[in-house]
Amino acid sequence: MFYRPEDGHGLPRDPFNYLVVPRPIGWISTRSADGVDNLAPYSFFNAVAYSPPQVMFAATTGHQQGGGLKDSVANAQEMGEFVVNLATWDLREQMNGSSTSAPRDVDEFDIVGLTKAASTIVTPPRVAESPVHLECRTTQVLTLPCDDEEDDNTVVFGQVVGIHIDERVLTQGHVDVAKLRPIGRLGALDYVDVREAFEIKRPVWTEK
Ligand SMILES: Cc1cc2nc3c(=O)[nH]c(=O)nc-3n(C[C@H](O)[C@H](O)[C@H](O)COP(=O)(O)O)c2cc1C
Repeated sequence: MFYRPEDGHGLPRDPFNYLVVPRPIGWISTRSADGVDNLAPYSFFNAVAYSPPQVMFAATTGHQQGGGLKDSVANAQEMGEFVVNLATWDLREQMNGSSTSAPRDVDEFDIVGLTKAASTIVTPPRVAESPVHLECRTTQVLTLPCDDEEDDNTVVFGQVVGIHIDERVLTQGHVDVAKLRPIGRLGALDYVDVREAFEIKRPVWTEK
């Protein structure tokens, strides 16, 4: 099949969500100017550069929360900082629970019963139960095209200024995916449980 997004797909579910998969989940913690901590998952999330390391997360329209920027975006923009916590199999329920569209003065750490660990460089707390944290400084916030004229799609870029790794997920100095067990997002309510890695050697070009 082929379709232009503006013409519709004719399928029971929007396939786009199922096509860019699996998506890593950036579980973003931020702190507001009023000192309220916030936690929410974003699967429009990825690493975008190595040196210096940089990441991004993107928020789709905020109408489900009554409009305006999502809290994570507003806080990352206003305060210039955020933390990415790795979402793992063990933390899947808390990750999902933290996606509730709670008002800005509600701290999702409390709602889902997670422990806060102080960050080393930035102000927002880390999810203590998560084995990996990326402390980030916001570098850019961009507004993307949006079909809803009254709303925005927004992407937040950040530079990673500190990285925490629980040594229990290392095997001989390497991050061991079987110990880490990250989860990824498929479409809608579906996820992937990452337990196995496989290796493929890169080809080396040789002149014939
Ligand atoms: C696994 C998962 C991934 C999500 N990914 C996104 C995303 O990439 N962008 C987005 O705007 N909302 C996403 N959401 C929904 C947000 O988490 C939800 O709107 C949340 O209330 C935003 O919280 P905040 O306003 O505190 O930032 C996702 C939800 C789940 C459960």
